[in-house]
Amino acid sequence: MGPGLYLHIPFCQHHCGYCNFAVMTGADDAFRTRYIAALKMDLSAVAAGGPRAVAPPGADVAPEWPTFTSVFVGGGTPTLLAPSDLAGLLRHAREALPVADDAEVTSEANPDGLTADGLSALVDAGLTRLSIGAQSFAPGVLSFLDRRHDREAPLRAVAAARAAGVAQVSLDLIYGAPAETARDWAASLRTALAARPDHVSAYALTLEANTPYAARVRGGAQAAPDDDVAAERMAVAGEVLGAAGLERYETSNWARPGARCRHNLTYWGGGDYLGVGAGAHGHWQGRRWWSTRPPARYADAALAGGSTTAGSEILDDATRRVERLMLGLRLVGGVDRAAVDPVDETALRDLVSAGLLDEDPDRLVLTAAGRPLADGVTLRLLPG
Ligand SMILES: C[S@@+](CC[C@H](N)C(=O)[O-])C[C@H]1O[C@@H](n2cnc3c(N)ncnc32)[C@H](O)[C@@H]1O
Ligand code: SF4
Repeated sequence: MGPGLYLHIPFCQHHCGYCNFAVMTGADDAFRTRYIAALKMDLSAVAAGGPRAVAPPGADVAPEWPTFTSVFVGGGTPTLLAPSDLAGLLRHAREALPVADDAEVTSEANPDGLTADGLSALVDAGLTRLSIGAQSFAPGVLSFLDRRHDREAPLRAVAAARAAGVAQVSLDLIYGAPAETARDWAASLRTALAARPDHVSAYALTLEANTPYAARVRGGAQAAPDDDVAAERMAVAGEVLGAAGLERYETSNWARPGARCRHNLTYWGGGDYLGVGAGAHGHWQGRRWWSTRPPARYADAALAGGSTTAGSEILDDATRRVERLMLGLRLVGGVDRAAVDPVDETALRDLVSAGLLDEDPDRLVLTAAGRPLADGVTLRLLPG
């Protein structure tokens, strides 16, 4: 599987309080145009450098790019761009790199402002998947989360995507906001399912540092999420989504058969991907790098033909194994022991006895009881 290509569009109409992604508000048309030009130039430069320029120095890597099996345009809000600009970017990606004819091509989207005509232009440019941030269908929760769209907007967005012929539609939901009741969450899941999405991502609200939400929690204006509530909500998500025929394939992700997100599976499997755009991360054969995060500085560097890389690191074998363990345990199929050994054998036996891990000599697989405790299980399995 893979490699994948990630392209970052930082623009948002408004900064949601909980979000710590590389985003900017208030960009005018001139800056958006400048940023897209910079992104295309940077992508061309990365493509021209070939895989040896992104792999660890001296790694045994063929000089030509392998075929990319996924493209993911994330943000930010890619759909704030004019559809013709976003379509132009998708076409540019195919010109710059060998992208498979049947590649999965995703764009993230906010629920408001999507039209079937605009989305048709993206489908014509190869879009196969739309990931819509619904977050919740409860007005009180949307308000707690600082979301500006109404509860119907994601449903209109799904209808527009279907009318435009987008092959796969995914909805993002967030659970565990202190303003949310158990009844709100059950109703949000039911409403999401009534829209018949191919895929659902349900994330526990996390309190990210340096966000307006974190500042409000410090000031006592809003409460922090509660871990026990989050574990209950996660269990309800598992029951409700599973009963509707969506298969859980990762801790926070469910899909109808055939609709798992290939791009994210590449991340979770420790695979290779290029990340292009302000603050984007890439990984190739054990080398990781990240781009300059402020969009204006990123665009200046790219347009001047300079480096947009803000930092990089070579992951040693032990670090790669720990990352494979952490990400692999989140997959419902678990992770191959050969990819992560050695682990702490005593801790492993204890975790199996405690019913948090399955008893399987070849794979490490979390049980349903272990799933909400994935991070703690990972820590306990790390060798001495
Ligand atoms: C990069 S955002 C882009 C989605 C799109 N801009 C939107 O907001 O509709 C991708 C997803 O990350 C999730 N997310 C972002 N911050 C989060 C947080 N602090 N806790 C939980 N989920 C979060 C949201 O579900 C969001 O839809
Ligand atoms: S959640 Fe989405 S819309 Fe809100 S600030 Fe983050 S990227 Fe932008």
